[in-house]
Amino acid sequence: MDSEVDRYTASTPRSAELQAEAERYLPGGSSRGTAYFAPYPFFVERADGHHVVDVDGNRYLDFMLNATTYVLGHSNDRVVEAVREQAANGLSYSTPHESQVRLAQALCERVPSVEKVRFTNSGTEGTLNAIRAARAYTGRHKIAKIEGGYHGNHEYVSVSVYAPLDALDPEEPTSVAEWPGQPPSVVEDVITLHYNDIESTERILRENAAELSCVIIEPVLSNFGYLPADGEYLARLRELTTELGLIFIFDEVQSFRLSQGGAQEQMGVIPDMTTFGKVIGGGMPVGAWGGRADLMDLFDPTDGPVVSHAGTFNANPMTMVAGLATLDQLTPEVYERMNALGDILRAKLRAVFDELDVAVQVTGIGSLFGIHFTEERIVDHRSVLRADRAMQQKLFTGYSMRAS
Ligand SMILES: Cc1ncc(COP(=O)(O)O)c(C=O)c1O
Repeated sequence: MDSEVDRYTASTPRSAELQAEAERYLPGGSSRGTAYFAPYPFFVERADGHHVVDVDGNRYLDFMLNATTYVLGHSNDRVVEAVREQAANGLSYSTPHESQVRLAQALCERVPSVEKVRFTNSGTEGTLNAIRAARAYTGRHKIAKIEGGYHGNHEYVSVSVYAPLDALDPEEPTSVAEWPGQPPSVVEDVITLHYNDIESTERILRENAAELSCVIIEPVLSNFGYLPADGEYLARLRELTTELGLIFIFDEVQSFRLSQGGAQEQMGVIPDMTTFGKVIGGGMPVGAWGGRADLMDLFDPTDGPVVSHAGTFNANPMTMVAGLATLDQLTPEVYERMNALGDILRAKLRAVFDELDVAVQVTGIGSLFGIHFTEERIVDHRSVLRADRAMQQKLFTGYSMRAS
């Protein structure tokens, strides 16, 4: 480990200088918690295809692609061309541009649950507005989420995301504030559920149904190494939410990478609303939520609206044209190839770890994967926490510290 870090620091002196300077102006040197790793992250100069090149000229094979965003790789020709052309005609305006109609049309045509959609500038705003719609529609204020699930950075989803084992009730899913000073009322209004545990989920939803507005879930849970939900669990959740009058929300900010219709199409479970981000903006800042027309029409300004939704850069044409240029290239054949490559990668990783006699669980689906150092099958937040985190850190460090 030490030799890997030494090799890294020796080959990244300019990044070290920039990090030191950055820390004078930005907490931790950046504007994004996940951008940091010890001893310091390398600063990127440019990217192309599936590589990034740092300010010292080191080239890295990029498995992150800005948190799964660049589904076609960095600086895809057609996306760059669309953005260049749009930039010459204005970056954003106060009234609509046709590109947002076309991207909305593409999502409505591709995603089974989406009859209407609204765009934002982040996935965080997408989940925020979907939850707001559920509350306004049902007139109830509580929400249910999976213990360990991440849905962005706003208050109501920042409950029990990274909660450590010792903060959790050993028997029951537990709602834990993510930072000091988070209002207790927020934590009380967020009911947590154990992923893939039908029995306790059903009991908790029934107990809280009178105050609950919605259940929000990632059908492929990214924090658990892109672990797909059990088909039976999702199907039962669909039935239960319908029976109890709750709005069922799929967060597909990441899993929209799996097929033209997202995970919901692959898994055959159709929610009431879906949230999006990343891929649909072609690499420009983006988010969205969409779903049943009666829920989305709460935001209709021609007749109200019941719920307001504003945002200076919402559906800006730079994002819309980049998103369209990306979706246009995402044909069923492309998804098939990406998903097959993911299968090969997972199989090869398992084979390598087997050969090295390392206890590991390789999770994931399609082009998404995760690695957990444990003999225990990964099923939920707690099984993820019980895996050997130090080993994971070593793997990350060892990999990141080696330019290709
Ligand atoms: C599942 C999920 N939901 C929501 C978000 C929030 O998206 P953004 O970072 O664009 O706010 C993310 C971001 O990683 C995510 O993975």
